[in-house]
Amino acid sequence: MKIFDIVTLTVNPALDKSTHFRGLVPEQKIRCETPRFDAGGGGINVSKAIAHLGGSSKALFTSGGFTGEMLKEIVKKEGISFETIEIHSDTRESFVAVDDNTNLQYRFGFKGAEINETEKNKIIQLIQELKSDYLIVSGSLNEGLPVDFYKKIAEITKKSGIKLIIDSDGEALVKVLEVGVFMIKPNVSELSKLIGVKSLEMEEINHAAKQIIANGGAEIVVVSLGPQGAVLVTKDFYEFVSAPNVVKKSTVGAGDSMVGGMVLALSQNKSLKEVLRWGVACGSAATMNEGTQLFKMEDAKRLFEWLKDK
Ligand SMILES: Nc1ncnc2c1ncn2[C@@H]1O[C@H](COP(=O)(O)OP(=O)(O)OP(=O)(O)O)[C@@H](O)[C@H]1O
Ligand SMILES: [Mg+2]
Repeated sequence: MKIFDIVTLTVNPALDKSTHFRGLVPEQKIRCETPRFDAGGGGINVSKAIAHLGGSSKALFTSGGFTGEMLKEIVKKEGISFETIEIHSDTRESFVAVDDNTNLQYRFGFKGAEINETEKNKIIQLIQELKSDYLIVSGSLNEGLPVDFYKKIAEITKKSGIKLIIDSDGEALVKVLEVGVFMIKPNVSELSKLIGVKSLEMEEINHAAKQIIANGGAEIVVVSLGPQGAVLVTKDFYEFVSAPNVVKKSTVGAGDSMVGGMVLALSQNKSLKEVLRWGVACGSAATMNEGTQLFKMEDAKRLFEWLKDK
């Protein structure tokens, strides 16, 4: 069996359904265009981003019901290797509708699929058997998974020497940092919450990230700043890269695209400077596309080339 350098885990994936309509009117039928279906959820998006860059990864995700079957079909069509943990409840859907009259986007999310004890143990077992260099865990936790579930994963990967990258927030992330991981990618508001302050000014970010690193929470902290760009911090490195000016269509998936770009660069032993620039390039390239679509390889490459000399 092929061993993948990069594996992603999505415990709470979604079948993303998106459409367009004209005019949001209550009590009337709103005619929507034929929907587009995409595979969604943090880890799956990271795997998609890696595939867009010509890299390969394996996506591990839970799947249940018709929505789960459809999710698998879509992931397969994208050419991504995957393995599922079959669950008793239905994979959730998400619904994105754009009003073409106003160009405003409405995003509806549903509760995540419930996971029982047996299914939870199946996920743990898969992680215990894992032999990759990197594991990326991204997204929210489902009903039925304890808040320290990602912490448990961190304990396992620490023992097996797999570099764990976590993109999640709140209590789940706080718990993970008690064990310590290879890399985290909070945005600035997630970072503020993490260290228990209301907000952070630009010049305070380095200190906040260094604090997490000094406490053994992570080796690399990348803080994304939306249209402003991102900073990468390690115990002896700090750099800020401004995001390029692009025509923004939708920021959905910007964070996951960024993580995908960075982990692929890391797996190719690129320097931290390049890793950060690939992250910003892929994140910004993702904002150039509509709805749930991530980014085009040529956009990411062009933005990276431009950032290289900055
Ligand atoms: N409006 C924008 N213009 C240009 N680049 C952007 C914009 N928004 C996001 N980006 C790019 O995407 C990266 C990640 O974005 P952001 O900080 O919004 O992540 P996030 O909050 O984790 O997003 P997500 O909602 O996907 O989880 C940024 O560092 C930047 O490179
Ligand atoms: Mg994010």
